[in-house]
Amino acid sequence: MNLQAPKGMNDILPDEIGRWHRLEAAFRSTVELFGYSELRTPLVEPTQLFVRSIGEATDIVEKEMFTFDRGDESLTLRPEGTAGAARAYVEHAVHGREPLTRWYYLGPMFRAERPQKGRYRQFYQAGCEVYGDAGPAVDAEMIDMLVRWLERLGVSDVTVHLNSLGAGGTRERYRAALVEHLAPREASLGDDSRRRLVTNPLRILDSKDPRDVAACEGAPSILDVLDDADRAHFAEVRRLLDRLGTPYVVDGRLVRGLDYYTRTLFEIRATGGELGAQNALLGGGRYDRMIGELGGPEVPCIGFAMGLERVLLAMPREPLAAVPTVFVAPLGDRGLAEGMVLARELRELGVRTELDGRRGSMKSMLRRASSLGASLVAIVGDGEVDRAVVSVKDLAAHAQADVPRADAARTIAGQLASKGAPGGA
Ligand code: HAM
Repeated sequence: MNLQAPKGMNDILPDEIGRWHRLEAAFRSTVELFGYSELRTPLVEPTQLFVRSIGEATDIVEKEMFTFDRGDESLTLRPEGTAGAARAYVEHAVHGREPLTRWYYLGPMFRAERPQKGRYRQFYQAGCEVYGDAGPAVDAEMIDMLVRWLERLGVSDVTVHLNSLGAGGTRERYRAALVEHLAPREASLGDDSRRRLVTNPLRILDSKDPRDVAACEGAPSILDVLDDADRAHFAEVRRLLDRLGTPYVVDGRLVRGLDYYTRTLFEIRATGGELGAQNALLGGGRYDRMIGELGGPEVPCIGFAMGLERVLLAMPREPLAAVPTVFVAPLGDRGLAEGMVLARELRELGVRTELDGRRGSMKSMLRRASSLGASLVAIVGDGEVDRAVVSVKDLAAHAQADVPRADAARTIAGQLASKGAPGGA
């Protein structure tokens, strides 16, 4: 039997996990500075939640959901985090407790897409959602936060694409105008787009098929059909971004693959690092209708989500700082027991300690210690136990000396710290 991880789903092995931890910690600390608190929702939700919020005629709902039945319930592995967060917001009547809510989340999402570099079937998103602020200041603040954060991570060549889809009837008006432009060109559209002309014509603007790109040439821009309030909102987002010194390009063709957006819509792309064709690091926007449509009151919302794999591909690879480690090498029965006590004492002092309990030779233990990159080896044999000492070997300095057993843990922690290592006492 050849058992492998499912297609498009990856193991993250320990030699990669340090970068993940650093990225996740940087995300948490930044968004917490802005007042966001963490939300954790189930990995599965009722299928209808995604159908109703993301939209029936989207790629995600039409062909990418991992859906299964459990009893008479249809469940789906979450393809994104916004719908589940909104469901939780309504279910817990959060609007009744606070007028403004800022949540963030981090975790795996699932979409049955064709896998390629930067596009997976299980991928990790970090995202934020704000409920109860109609903007436009929060729209600009969010985009500015993201651009500065990406710059601090060393992600180069970041471009913000910005659009407005309007509220109220704008989208419907635009849909009609776009269909009017595309209908006479129907025969030249790709198969998917011909179907989309009826189900979801705005998505045709996002198509990369050269036939569709050609057909869209000269199409009206949604920015031309915004009503006065939409226009004022969009102008204010741009004025604030200008004042913050955060560059963006207005991209009237930006639609994105989810149907819930209203007004401000953005996507941040990068060209640096190891990113290939999948260059959208994150996407977001306003979705002022979703809470009402899910049975809650009318609460305006805005949010974004970033793909952590893509951010990692775009970030420079910094060398990993080795965590200072003490290796305990026990010999003999009493040495093993004493070594285990010493290892426990060291860990209680916050020192990362590995004990080799396999009862191998000193030579093999020293080999393991050096391949681990351990700074110090604490040798505890029956002889050391008899003399009430621990023999401490400094691998880099090729030096070895006995230290009294009674305060050996503290002494070793001190030696580790004096080698410039954190995690000492
Ligand atoms: P989205 O554009 O579908 O938006 O996904 C956001 C980000 O998740 C993308 O820019 C990309 O970095 C990453 N991503 C999406 N699909 C994949 C995949 N198959 N493999 C790897 N990374 C992927 C949303 O999900 C919205 N919920 C964002 C949002 C939050 N809007 C408002 N609030």
